[in-house]
Amino acid sequence: MIDGGHLDRVGRPVTLRPVDDDNWRAVADVAPRDDQRRFVAALGARYLLLSMRSGVWTSLAVYADETVVGHVMWGVDDDGSHWIGGMLIDAAEQGRGVGRATVQTLATWLGAKDGNPPVRLSYHPDNTHAATLYGSLGFQPTGAMDDDELIAELLL
Ligand SMILES: CC(C)(COP(=O)(O)OP(=O)(O)OC[C@H]1O[C@@H](n2cnc3c(N)ncnc32)[C@H](O)[C@@H]1OP(=O)(O)O)[C@@H](O)C(=O)NCCC(=O)NCCS
Repeated sequence: MIDGGHLDRVGRPVTLRPVDDDNWRAVADVAPRDDQRRFVAALGARYLLLSMRSGVWTSLAVYADETVVGHVMWGVDDDGSHWIGGMLIDAAEQGRGVGRATVQTLATWLGAKDGNPPVRLSYHPDNTHAATLYGSLGFQPTGAMDDDELIAELLL
């Protein structure tokens, strides 16, 4: 379990846990709002399959207290940079501070790994909700793109 000590806005501890035999169904069922489907997969299930098949990404279940409320994944690029991806908080749980706590927790954990690697993520330029969140946590666009997404790096 990755526990950065962060709470959401209603006081629930937000933790990141391995996907296992007990929680995988709940993670697979995590879904964005319909209008967010142009930015992310329609279900957490897509990211779980990507993690299983790619050998690059590791999916994590996002918990608020003891409830699965989202999915996030991390991976290491060839240049050693560590990436956050598959950031998806269930539509019913958005706006409660879970996304902020999730990114804070994972970014801090990744950045503390051996050699303090750069921590990066990407987002669609039209995804203002995500851009605001990442920017407020210290992620700045690098000027590079990954397909149609802006790449941002955590500047400490
Ligand atoms: C983006 C996402 C992960 C944020 O998670 P969340 O739990 O809703 O976010 P939080 O409640 O922690 O809010 C974090 C910040 O987002 C912004 N935000 C929250 N709700 C918002 C809304 N309805 N409109 C615009 N910005 C909003 C605010 O800047 C907020 O800052 P604050 O904490 O100072 O209030 C979530 O909305 C989501 O899963 N969206 C669909 C998938 C997606 O776009 N993922 C990112 C791909 S790069």
